[in-house]
Amino acid sequence: ISAEKGGYEHFMLKEIFEQPKALKDTLSGRLQDGEVILQEVDLTPEDIHNFNKVAIVACGTAYHAGLIGRKLIEKWVRIPVEVDIASEFRYRAPLIDDRTLVIVISQSGETADTLAALKESKRLGARVIAITNVVGSSVAREADDVIYTWAGPEIAVASTKAYTTQIEGIVLLALYLTQSKGTMPEEWIGEIIGELRKIPEKAEEILKNAQAIEQMVSLFDDVTSAFFLGRGLDWSVALEGALKLKEISYIHAEAYAAGELKHGTLALITEQTPVIALATQRDLYEKTLSNIIEVKARDAKVIGFTFAGNSSFEKTVDQVFFLPDTVNELAPLLMVIPLQLLSYYVSVARDNDVDKPRNLAKSVTVE
Ligand code: G6P
Repeated sequence: ISAEKGGYEHFMLKEIFEQPKALKDTLSGRLQDGEVILQEVDLTPEDIHNFNKVAIVACGTAYHAGLIGRKLIEKWVRIPVEVDIASEFRYRAPLIDDRTLVIVISQSGETADTLAALKESKRLGARVIAITNVVGSSVAREADDVIYTWAGPEIAVASTKAYTTQIEGIVLLALYLTQSKGTMPEEWIGEIIGELRKIPEKAEEILKNAQAIEQMVSLFDDVTSAFFLGRGLDWSVALEGALKLKEISYIHAEAYAAGELKHGTLALITEQTPVIALATQRDLYEKTLSNIIEVKARDAKVIGFTFAGNSSFEKTVDQVFFLPDTVNELAPLLMVIPLQLLSYYVSVARDNDVDKPRNLAKSVTVE
């Protein structure tokens, strides 16, 4: 078993550290001089022009990747996007037809609810693209087109490298649709592609600094609840960060859109509630900062994640971790990595079974 873990103490840690490679492999062959090539997607420009809506459906961590997809596709392709949890999708009579592009995201490709949503979408006439990590899985077989994430086998129940590669899959698809519709300038696409190529080495940079995250663990001694705050894409990543902490450390965690805090949740914040503040969206720096000041006024200990240069934020939080610089839209790919490490180290400190958390399964094949 220890050989399978490649010298790491747990599969989860091994998989976190495999992310630079997984991220690189998932981009491989799909980026060419300023253009995204998705040979596996068989859509004509007319097909793409015909879509008047996108619906993204997934469960768990894959759903969180979908939330990011929504924001990117709406911003770049200017088409309405809905995101649903697969187990809710069918029961709300979704408005899906032959002008809908449905994107299902599933690491295993075997999640029963996701598969059922896929089949229902096809029955309603939608075009279905799957983003999945398992070649030949049920979801891959049922979908019209498949974009594989090349993360390699993921063993730990808590998903890490599958999530970051799912985000890449959705970024690639969003850029592909953008190219076809011409909704963003070509030079801009070239720039984003240039930044995307640099993501694997930047992930590596974060991992070299893992010890800085490990040292934050003492802030979680005797803690029973934590908050993850962010705005925009940071809120989506906050949801994933909170899920990781809940899954493996069993600490109750809430992810909140930072601006929503004052509508009730602030009452739950005390000095016993660590707050993990995410600030990678430069246009929202100031707004997020004002929310951090509110939680500081309740004596919360704040761990902040941002880019170098966000000095007012740095001065306000108790501890700060700087991410390697990238564009706002790609920040989730880097932002989640320290959060994965944080939940890992907290779980280890609590002596939990990191790879097999209580009551959870890697793939849920019942509805
Ligand atoms: C389970 C796993 C999660 C995963 C979810 C969806 O709940 O514990 O880590 O995100 O299923 O799995 P899928 O294979 O469809 O991505």
